[in-house]
Amino acid sequence: MATERKALFVFFGGTGDLAYRKLYPSLFNLYRKGNLRSHFAVIGTSRQAMDDDKFREAVRKSLADSGNRADSKEATDFSSHFYYQAHDVTNTAHYSVLKEAADKLDKKYKLEGNRIFYLSMAPQFFGTIAQDLKSQGLMSTNKGAFNRLVIEKPFGRDYDSAKQLNDALSKSFEEEQIFRIDHYLGKEMIQNIEALRFGNTLVESLWNNRYIDNIQVTLSEKLGVEERASYYDNSGALRDMVQNHIMQIVSLLAMEQPVAFTDTDIRAEKVKALRSLRVYNVADAATNFVRGQYGSINDQPDYRHEDNVPEDSTTETFVAGKLLFDNYRWSGTPFYVRTGKMLADKFTRVDVVFKRPLVDIFAFPQSQNTPLAANVLTIFVEPHAGFSLQLNAKTNDAGFSTEPIKLDYLVDAEKSKDTPEPYERLLHDVLKGDGTNFSSWPEVSYAWKFVDQIRRVWDLQEPQFPNYTPHSMGPAAAEELIQRDHREWIYRLNK
Ligand code: NDP
Ligand code: BG6
Repeated sequence: MATERKALFVFFGGTGDLAYRKLYPSLFNLYRKGNLRSHFAVIGTSRQAMDDDKFREAVRKSLADSGNRADSKEATDFSSHFYYQAHDVTNTAHYSVLKEAADKLDKKYKLEGNRIFYLSMAPQFFGTIAQDLKSQGLMSTNKGAFNRLVIEKPFGRDYDSAKQLNDALSKSFEEEQIFRIDHYLGKEMIQNIEALRFGNTLVESLWNNRYIDNIQVTLSEKLGVEERASYYDNSGALRDMVQNHIMQIVSLLAMEQPVAFTDTDIRAEKVKALRSLRVYNVADAATNFVRGQYGSINDQPDYRHEDNVPEDSTTETFVAGKLLFDNYRWSGTPFYVRTGKMLADKFTRVDVVFKRPLVDIFAFPQSQNTPLAANVLTIFVEPHAGFSLQLNAKTNDAGFSTEPIKLDYLVDAEKSKDTPEPYERLLHDVLKGDGTNFSSWPEVSYAWKFVDQIRRVWDLQEPQFPNYTPHSMGPAAAEELIQRDHREWIYRLNK
């Protein structure tokens, strides 16, 4: 039985793409499951004029667009909790009107002063909004009530700007009141990393540099930059995917076992792991990270000819790199990461490659046997969720040869239909006040310090772009990066 949570949600950017496409349908799922019932209200804000009825209609349309029945009684009841308030976030006077609306709804729905402020708009406004929420009295002062601030990405574009933003937010909100969204942390199989590691002696006892040769994290996207070029061209794959999603995944893979399964303990271990991540000097940054930009193929224009991309853009649409941790568990075991747009397919996976047996007794000189393959544990994050463990076994015949076999566990389609979307999980976590699946400021700051160093080195050199063919797995340099270490990517095309 779901526990009902009481809260007022205020969405800044409440008529934006993210709100309609992800946030309202996710809230609806929480409503259907009983996490929200009668004691909740939503204020959507943006600059345009609109009345409550029009807003509710738009909300119901967003439910329909995400596969729900917009005319159902449930959808109508749900949308009746939505209110619209025209509001320019840069106009301080508008906040007092918003406060009045918030206080009224608080009374009407008996919300006990609990407030969630969701900033779903351009990051340059985050600081101002946080400041005015406090100075104009929107934060509730009820005893026992909560005020929580949810921040969308990107959190800065380098360490300095992120710190500036964080300093601005900290003037109004404590760290435990700030929920920095990284939607990868809301994904089922990313959350499963902790269960896999800390729920299995078999796995955790081997989870170190003695038994693991290398770990590979691949976030591959099939689409190009689509209609987001104006944002993406100022960001690039390093900032868009590595600083946040990849660093979060890597820290979950690298961290020590937390004392308890609580947000404070988990975050403390992630921070510790990130602190031991080697920040590269100029030479190492240049060797250990490579970048790419997609070229053209058939009707597909190259990146530089996509809408809103400058013809001389040097923005990378692909990154591959090697990360090294200087700690007892991981010293000598590299983490290879790669991500890019316009690659062969859309998928996310982690491949944990174990060391081969020290002695291969099956490969005695007169044997025809091929050398033993490495054991590989693959975590399939998307599109299919599951695990696969590659072991060596005897071939089923009269001789004695070995061959790699796979133990697979894939979540069946029926079951995965019930898997909550990342935004549903994350909104539920915000309601519960559970910060486990959000990025804390120390995590964000260490990730920026690492990434800034790569960026600094790249900014010194004009790249030779474009350098990879659409629907490949990136530039040749990504192969060379790993081959130089006498290793290969586990996921390869045609495999
Ligand atoms: P949109 O551009 O679609 O929406 C922006 C919203 O902000 C609109 O509601 C707009 O309404 C409002 N707005 C703009 N200026 C002001 C202002 N001065 N005062 C009040 N409201 C204003 O953005 P998205 O929904 O796509 O993105 C929102 C955030 O989410 C961004 O931080 C983005 O990086 C992040 N994000 C988005 C994703 C997506 O898939 N869309 C994915 C991951 C992150 P109006 O102009 O009428 O005022
Ligand atoms: C976003 C990036 O954070 O993640 C996008 O800004 C990217 O560029 C997206 O496409 C990928 O998310 P997912 O969940 O589709 O893998």
